Amino acid sequence: MIGRLNHVAIAVPDLAEAMDKYSATLGATVTDAADLPEHGVTVAFVDLPNTKVELIHPLGDESPIRAFLDKSPGGGIHHICYEVEDILAARDQLLEQGARVLGDGEPRMGSHGKPILFLHPKEFFGTLIELEQA
Ligand code: CO
Repeated sequence: MIGRLNHVAIAVPDLAEAMDKYSATLGATVTDAADLPEHGVTVAFVDLPNTKVELIHPLGDESPIRAFLDKSPGGGIHHICYEVEDILAARDQLLEQGARVLGDGEPRMGSHGKPILFLHPKEFFGTLIELEQA
């Protein structure tokens, strides 16, 4: 069912510092930061030859990653995103197998303009999984 690794998302307490570390220290190409109010994050992408890293920072009081940073103030890996061909078919198959989909279970538009879903980390060894329709 799952295909390519689309991205790994890292929650960071200081976005400018994280962007600088990836570009200056690690020598990667980093996009400009963009606010995504509908997701409650500001994001910058690290473009790698085979995948992306999303540097995410809370935007607004309701940000879904604020609690994560409260627990891990230094930052940390927040989720990983796998591509699927058909997100509704993937969701239905996963629900049948006991996975839990976060929210109301309906896909919403992700930061790349494609439908996404999140799976509860409990069934996946403590890792929050994002599925994105490729
Ligand atoms: Co993501």
